[in-house]
Amino acid sequence: MSRIVLGITGSIAAYKAADLASQLTKAGHEVTCVLTKGALEFVTPLTLATLSRRPVVTDLFAEKEGWQPGHIQLADDADLLLIAPATANVLASMAHGFANDALTAIALATRAPILIAPAMNGKMWLHPATLKNVETLKGWGAQFIEPAEGLLACGYEGVGRLAPVEEILAAVQALLNKGGA
Ligand SMILES: Cc1cc2nc3c(=O)[nH]c(=O)nc-3n(C[C@H](O)[C@H](O)[C@H](O)COP(=O)(O)O)c2cc1C
Repeated sequence: MSRIVLGITGSIAAYKAADLASQLTKAGHEVTCVLTKGALEFVTPLTLATLSRRPVVTDLFAEKEGWQPGHIQLADDADLLLIAPATANVLASMAHGFANDALTAIALATRAPILIAPAMNGKMWLHPATLKNVETLKGWGAQFIEPAEGLLACGYEGVGRLAPVEEILAAVQALLNKGGA
């Protein structure tokens, strides 16, 4: 059993995170879903709490009782931070060290491996700003599951689709096996 923080951001692919949360939980992992404000436009905390069988985090300032900030505890306890789907916005925030919501604060505070599965419009993915942000994050040790090609929700054909859930699950397992978590 590993402790996985599943970061979900404001992409149209966010509904696929429900499947990820469900499958990782069924595989025996403890999954804590952390949603950005953007993610809340696409999926409900109720869905994710039910599938992960745990409370979800949606607000950095809604702390549970206790002396230790909940986001720091999550960051410290995690065996893996998986962000799927990851928006262009969250990649930019992380590449610049911003911590203005629970997910980016956890990303900055954790020393667990970080696995990122981006999803976005192909032009956003191939923009020099995004490419640079990905390069920066890779330089700091983050691992990426590259987006797939196909018909995008925005109507374009090209690269930017969230990698298939099975591919993300395989990458999670490989990383956890490597770390012995
Ligand atoms: C219908 C719709 C779909 C979107 N899909 C994506 C997406 O797949 N990837 C992305 O980077 N941004 C997407 N966006 C834009 C993000 O929601 C927006 O940049 C938001 O600020 C991201 O916030 P977050 O990164 O904090 O979740 C979409 C916006 C809308 C309205």
